Amino acid sequence: MKVAVLGAAGGIGQALALLLKTQLPAGSKLSLYDIAPVTPGVAVDLSHIPTAVEVKGFAGQDPSAALEGADVVLISAGVARKPGMDRSDLFNINAGIVKNLMEKCAATCPKALIGIITNPVNTTVAIAAEVLKAAGVYDKNRLFGITTLDVIRSETFIAELKGLDVADVNVSVIGGHSGVTILPLLSQVEGVSFTDEEVATMTTRIQNAGTEVVEAKAGGGSATLSMGQAACRFGLSLVRGLQGEKNVVECAYVDGGSEHAEFFAQPVLLGKNGVEKVLAYGDVSEFEANARDAMLDTLKADITLGVEFVK
Ligand code: NAI
Repeated sequence: MKVAVLGAAGGIGQALALLLKTQLPAGSKLSLYDIAPVTPGVAVDLSHIPTAVEVKGFAGQDPSAALEGADVVLISAGVARKPGMDRSDLFNINAGIVKNLMEKCAATCPKALIGIITNPVNTTVAIAAEVLKAAGVYDKNRLFGITTLDVIRSETFIAELKGLDVADVNVSVIGGHSGVTILPLLSQVEGVSFTDEEVATMTTRIQNAGTEVVEAKAGGGSATLSMGQAACRFGLSLVRGLQGEKNVVECAYVDGGSEHAEFFAQPVLLGKNGVEKVLAYGDVSEFEANARDAMLDTLKADITLGVEFVK
């Protein structure tokens, strides 16, 4: 398996690259690309870690060499939030970066599974899809917005609140990846019950968890280490699916034929072709149904912004 990370010199990219170097299956290749000149050095640094994963680094304006033969491409290239910004403030810069990188993916590795981390994910995934469509290589089963950070945050916060072993807590998070579009399905968490007040407070905390980090870092960026872990978990799940492992399920923001919006985060079964099957997200509480319905105008507007950007 060859996994490429675009934006590999950044806060997320370096954390993700380190985790992949230590956790990818033996014999894998890790390809790091960033416009930052330090990137080959990041690869040399990682290459001294004794695992059977070969690392190469590429810098400069053209990611093609890094993308050749890639099975999985994880994209965290772009700018991150500062205090006072929401994810949509990143659109002006990141939309163009994602568009350019996707044109290179379409030309160099059109069959790769592509996971987008760059915010605003609700919009950048729509941009990626439009670029792939224009190039005639779009396969909706191979494009993912990575929302795993919302899942791991939910699992962590619920375990803390309820005094549980976090390894036993599984939560689906549906919708999108910003503000009210992030909807953790707390009613489905096995063996746990919440008061109405806990549901409201916990849902809001999960939706605003990114801002918690942005404010705590006081101008130094947004979530990088937890996002590195989240992207590593998701990337490894993509690899496990590609290698034929059964029952690999993750929530992701996909073009999965949802009745709610063109792109919608929900559980998906991963396999040799990316999305093997989009899974139903199951029964939801009245609170969750209302929150789902209330987010849709925001989510659809985010998607339209991406489609129009490319057109
Ligand atoms: P960062 O600023 O530390 O790193 C971004 C990297 O992208 C830099 O190394 C920069 O040189 C590189 N870059 C910029 N333009 C590029 C291009 N055209 N080609 C290749 N590389 C390029 O930012 P950080 O903290 O790593 O965040 C990256 C992105 O991830 C941001 O958009 C952020 O909002 C997003 N993010 C997404 C999350 C999610 O849950 N999906 C969670 C947290 C952040």
